[in-house]
Amino acid sequence: MKVSLWCSFCVLLTFGLARAQNSLSFDASKYEIQTQEFNGKTIKVRAYEKILYVANPVDLNHHILNMYIPEEYFNNQQINGFSAETAPIFFPNRVGGYMPAQPATFLVPEQKGPFPYNNKTVLTALSKGYIVASAGARGRTNRNERGELIGKAPAGIVDLKAAVRYLKFNDKLMAGDANKIISNGTSAGGAMSTLLGATGNHADYEPFLKELGAANATDDIFAVSAYCPIINLENADMAYEWQLNKIHGYNFRGKKGDLDAESIKVSDDLKAAYLQYLNSLNLKDEAGKKLTLDAEGNGNFKELVKSYLVASAQVALNSGTDLSAHTFLKIEANKVVSVDFDGYMIYLERMKTPPAFDALDNKSFENNLFGTKSIENRHFTEYAKVHSKDPNATMADAQQIKMMNPMSYIGDKSAKTAENWRVRHGAKDRDTGFAVPIILAITLQNKGFIIDFALPWDKPHSGDYDLEELFNWMDIITK
Ligand code: DHB
Repeated sequence: MKVSLWCSFCVLLTFGLARAQNSLSFDASKYEIQTQEFNGKTIKVRAYEKILYVANPVDLNHHILNMYIPEEYFNNQQINGFSAETAPIFFPNRVGGYMPAQPATFLVPEQKGPFPYNNKTVLTALSKGYIVASAGARGRTNRNERGELIGKAPAGIVDLKAAVRYLKFNDKLMAGDANKIISNGTSAGGAMSTLLGATGNHADYEPFLKELGAANATDDIFAVSAYCPIINLENADMAYEWQLNKIHGYNFRGKKGDLDAESIKVSDDLKAAYLQYLNSLNLKDEAGKKLTLDAEGNGNFKELVKSYLVASAQVALNSGTDLSAHTFLKIEANKVVSVDFDGYMIYLERMKTPPAFDALDNKSFENNLFGTKSIENRHFTEYAKVHSKDPNATMADAQQIKMMNPMSYIGDKSAKTAENWRVRHGAKDRDTGFAVPIILAITLQNKGFIIDFALPWDKPHSGDYDLEELFNWMDIITK
């Protein structure tokens, strides 16, 4: 009796486990053929759409993955030197504004929402032999049927990690090499991409992944592509004011004005606090010298930021752009010699009011990101909490804040950080300070990772504007 009971338990357990795993098993027969004309060529793919990528989904509209595989790979053909076995998996996300995101599609869907979609990135990837997998992810406004807020941090990154686990779990059943996943995203989506790259397999995310029934696999990725990542949120207010302290006119999502005396004081406080943060990072330049700022906010770190702007202008000049109207640039014999930082900031202009991210009214995108199941918005910096104008405001948990910041994980031995990085942040982008992506780049370099980093001239807050260069980089790192 004892034995037979024990055996029934075994059967139940095995069956139960097999069933949970089975539901995450990729079914190669469930596809439809889709075709699109692109650059004079017909691209034909097997489209696997709306695959549920976790065993216990809590959001059937977002826990879904689309996968597109060039038909050539089913006829033993190669594209761009890749085969069905070796083709890397390009993993673009469509996260914007930390909102819920649909997966990218091969065909252009009906357009709705504030972030219009075009499929050029997906088509370019496929035309170059990359397999495309794109996951939906929850965002800060998601609610379940009980009205609970189920998309607050870290839901979005947990979802994307679960999708990576699905791809790795099914590597043998799918075309493509899941050890070559290259993530791509812009802005909040760029932040997600950097988080995927920084936090591979880190135990912090494990309980959340377990709860969703993520596949039993790792979630480290091969490479990161990110455009204007909105990261390092708990330090980004200070970085913004260090850079734009002297610019008092603002133009923030349709609201224009001039900073009042109170806001200027906030800006001064945040700017003053920045040097402590920057100096505490112990960042090193290429010669191994510590990067610092003095009490006025000057120093070799500022010179480094300027050098990226000079390099950006030089690339533009080399390609024939007329920069003569920009009197903040000193140009001699076709060489951009220097940039006047204050002049550059007048040209750049200020977008956000201080604090740029942890708003004192507790109403920014980011306040909304750091809510809970039952609280819409929370502060995530001590400064905003202390100076809050919202009498009911509370502070986000330290762990929640940590889990949204790739900087918390780069160099942590418990994380497997992606080896290859490409980050672009437009030289006309004012959604966050230049120091934010620059600190990411220097930190990665200092820790021995490879990063291709630039501030493309005159580019505003945007992404995917240099697809030829992006895929050239991907070809180099994958071959
Ligand atoms: C995005 C832009 C922002 O300025 C911000 O604070 C957060 C997200 C975005 O475009 O995704």
